[in-house]
Amino acid sequence: MPLADTNLRYFSFDDNPETASTLPAFTYFERDWFELEKRHIFRHNWRCVGHVSSLPRGGDYLTDTIVDQPIFVLRRRDGSIKAFHNVCRHRAHLLLTEARGSLKSKLITCPYHAWAYDSDGQLQAAPHCESIRAFDKSGIHLDALKVEVILGFIFVNADTEAADLRPQIAPGVERLARLLPDLETYQLAENVVFDIAGNWKNVGDNLLECYHCQPAHKAFVDLVDMESYKVEVTGLWSWQGGICRTHNSAYDLPGGLAAGDREFATFYIWPDVAFVLFPGSRAIASFVFGATAPESTHQVFSVYSPDGELDAVGRDIFRYFSDVLGPEDVDLVENVQKGLHSMSYQRGRFFVDPARSYFSEHAVHHLHGLVFRHLRAFIPPAAPAEEINR
Ligand code: FES
Ligand SMILES: [Fe+2]
Repeated sequence: MPLADTNLRYFSFDDNPETASTLPAFTYFERDWFELEKRHIFRHNWRCVGHVSSLPRGGDYLTDTIVDQPIFVLRRRDGSIKAFHNVCRHRAHLLLTEARGSLKSKLITCPYHAWAYDSDGQLQAAPHCESIRAFDKSGIHLDALKVEVILGFIFVNADTEAADLRPQIAPGVERLARLLPDLETYQLAENVVFDIAGNWKNVGDNLLECYHCQPAHKAFVDLVDMESYKVEVTGLWSWQGGICRTHNSAYDLPGGLAAGDREFATFYIWPDVAFVLFPGSRAIASFVFGATAPESTHQVFSVYSPDGELDAVGRDIFRYFSDVLGPEDVDLVENVQKGLHSMSYQRGRFFVDPARSYFSEHAVHHLHGLVFRHLRAFIPPAAPAEEINR
C-alpha cells in the first residue's frame, strides 16, 4: 500500500507501561490501518475457531471467517482435524456455506459446478474435465491452514510458516489445565453473540482491564474481591482474576468452596480470544472478538461444560453474562468508539499502578505493544513536530 496515499500518521510507542500513551485514535477506525492489521496481524496469528466436541464424527465441519478470509475446519475419517481456505479453486464459490454441518460424502463438493475435493484438499472430480485440454486434476488442491488443538480448543493460522502456539503460551495452558483437567472432553452448552459497533482493539482493551469494574459493573465487584484481583502479563498472553465471594449480587456460589475453588479468571491469548472461568460451576467460556471491519466486531461468547449441560449455578452465570455484564461492556465499547472520533482526542495515558493491582491497565498496554510491534514497519516516518502525542 503506498503510504503517501493513506491517512496514517507517525507515532511512537513507549515500552514502559507506566509512562506510555495508548495507540492513537485513528488506529481504531482508519481503513488503511485496519488493512494492515488484517494482512499483518490476523493472517499471521492464531485464531480459536471452536472446540473438538463440535466435530464428533468424521466429515463434520465448522466454517469461520478470519476478518475477510473464509475458512473451514474438518474432522477427517481418520479422526484428524484439518483446516482449509473455504474457496473453490475453479471460480471461487465458497465450498461450505453453513456455519457447521457434516459432509454428505467423502468429498467436499462445490455447490456451483460440482468440483469435488478429498479431505487432503486434493481435487478428485470436475464434471466433464476429460473434454478439457491440459486439465490436470493432480495440480489443483485447496490451501491448508496450520491447525493446533490445545485442551480441546481448535486454533488455526493462515500462515503455514507460523511458530507453534502452545510453546508460546504454555504456562497459561498448564494453569488452565490444572483448574479444569478434563477440558478436552468438554462440550458446548450455550453461546451468545454480540455484534458490536466498535474496533476489535476497543473490545480487547475493555476485556483486559478492571479499572472500569467499580464504576461500570456493580455486581461484578460484589462477586469478585477486588483486593485479590491480579493482572499478569507475559509474551503472547495475560491472565487476570481474583477470588469470588460466595454471596453477592451477580450470582451465588455453592457454599463451602475453598478460596482456591473460587477463582474468577480471564486467560487472554493474542490477538482475539480469551477464556473466562466463572467459579461455582465447572463451566468455562471462550470469548472470541473477531474483527469484521474497522468499526465492527463479531463477539462470540461460548460456554462449555463437562456434559454440554449447565447446572443451576452455570445457568445463573450464563444469564449474568448474557443479560448484565455483556451488555454493560458493549455499551462501554460503543461509547468509546464514538469518542475516538472526537477531534479533541488523539491518544490517552495508560493508568498503570506500580503494584499492578486490579485497577492497573498494563494488560491493555501489552495488547497495544503487540499491535505496534506487528505494524511498526508500516508507520510513516515523522515529519518535524508531527508525532501524535497527547
Ligand atoms: S466455482 Fe466451484 S466448481 Fe465452479
Ligand atoms: Fe467490563
